[in-house]
Amino acid sequence: MPRDSSSDDADRLTRRHYVAGAGTLATVGIAGCSDDSGGDGSDGSDGSDGSDGSDGSDGSDGSDGSDGAELEIVHWWTAGGEQDAYQALLDGFQEEYPDVEVADNPAPGGAGSAIDAVIQNRVVDGNPPSTFQIWPGQALTPYTDEGLLENIGDSVWDDEMRDAYRDGVLDLAQPAGDLVAVPINIHRLNNLFYNVSVVEDAGIDPTDIDGPQGLLSALETLDADTDVTPLVHQTQTPWSSLQLWENIFIGEQGVDDYQTVIGGDVSGLEDEIRSALDLLASYLEYIPEDAGSITWDQGNNDLIAGDAAFLHQGDWAAGQYGGAEDFDFGDDWDMVPFPGTSGVYHSVIDSFVFPTNNPSPEETEQFLNYAGTVDAQERFNPIKGSIPPRTDVPMDEFGDFLTRQFEDFQNSDTQPPTIAHGTAVAPDIHSTLDEVFANFNGSLDVDAAYEGIADAF
Ligand code: GAL
Repeated sequence: MPRDSSSDDADRLTRRHYVAGAGTLATVGIAGCSDDSGGDGSDGSDGSDGSDGSDGSDGSDGSDGSDGAELEIVHWWTAGGEQDAYQALLDGFQEEYPDVEVADNPAPGGAGSAIDAVIQNRVVDGNPPSTFQIWPGQALTPYTDEGLLENIGDSVWDDEMRDAYRDGVLDLAQPAGDLVAVPINIHRLNNLFYNVSVVEDAGIDPTDIDGPQGLLSALETLDADTDVTPLVHQTQTPWSSLQLWENIFIGEQGVDDYQTVIGGDVSGLEDEIRSALDLLASYLEYIPEDAGSITWDQGNNDLIAGDAAFLHQGDWAAGQYGGAEDFDFGDDWDMVPFPGTSGVYHSVIDSFVFPTNNPSPEETEQFLNYAGTVDAQERFNPIKGSIPPRTDVPMDEFGDFLTRQFEDFQNSDTQPPTIAHGTAVAPDIHSTLDEVFANFNGSLDVDAAYEGIADAF
């Protein structure tokens, strides 16, 4: 399984700890901010004044005094538009710190499906990269439990940065008290993307689909009346089915019941969990024949080409549309909140951390400082398909789609964390659920999946 490793060390990190902590962050909303007045970034916090955003309180003089060590960054942003977004981040960093040599070391695989196997051994063995991509929240806790992440509450998180971040995101960056991560984006998971002309030709208006069951009817119509793939979806790795189950469940039952499940009370909602599994099994009859051998972005290319109608995916998929030629928001593609989930901003957040035994302490601090600036978040997010966790990032270059997402975010009733992307449950529960959904992708066995979910919690 992607999240398992044969190594004892990695096993130690994934399997231990914390059922006690599971779900405790689940009630935290991320829309709030410690400084809702916002700002225009004109305080220079975007680093545009040529400073590195450091006040020198780390003993450095705040200049670009790189000691020449390589900055090794491990991440999984190689798919869709993600590589371009990551490159834009690096370009901004290198403008600020031209002397730092960046060693880019990707571990490709959607939703980090390949990164743990690379990172865990290295961090536990005291041979970490300079920094790595990780979801804040629960995903951090195996590392914080072992003291493997540096407290960057003074070195990186100055008052200006703390004040600018939304409170709930700040909370996710300090799961055990110390600030150990720098969040860089906020994605939305509960999106149903579609090819406009494909659904129009089938007589379907996605804004009329009023719940998860209604989506099944639309898929049936597409299957009966057209040659396109009704729902583009990948089953090579389990996370896409796990996240789809999460959204079916929220669409049918609402967020309160979802919070109950991620808090560990599964048996009280057995019928509801089974209902979402039943519906997922029905959806999976309408996915591509090669779903088991494609990645999410390969599947998304079918939607762009007009060979598929719908895609359930995080808005990183919109980042891919942004890079596609002659494929415009509104005219060619659009999105509705996953049926039954309007008012929900199911959030997915990425961050970078400072592992202990750091091979390049100074350069890592510079990179994390930069990742927390207006400039970094203004370059990265519009391409990535996400909105910024800072409140003072100018939104005028974010385009119509992300402007609408941002409005939805601001008007949302709730921004729950996600299982499939690490914020909602401890990694040992997450990895067990990945196994459950890997099996489900093959068997569509609702009984076995329900038992697996019950056991996982
Ligand atoms: C998520 C991650 C996103 C995006 C997605 C697809 O877990 O937070 O930034 O990369 O996986 O791989």
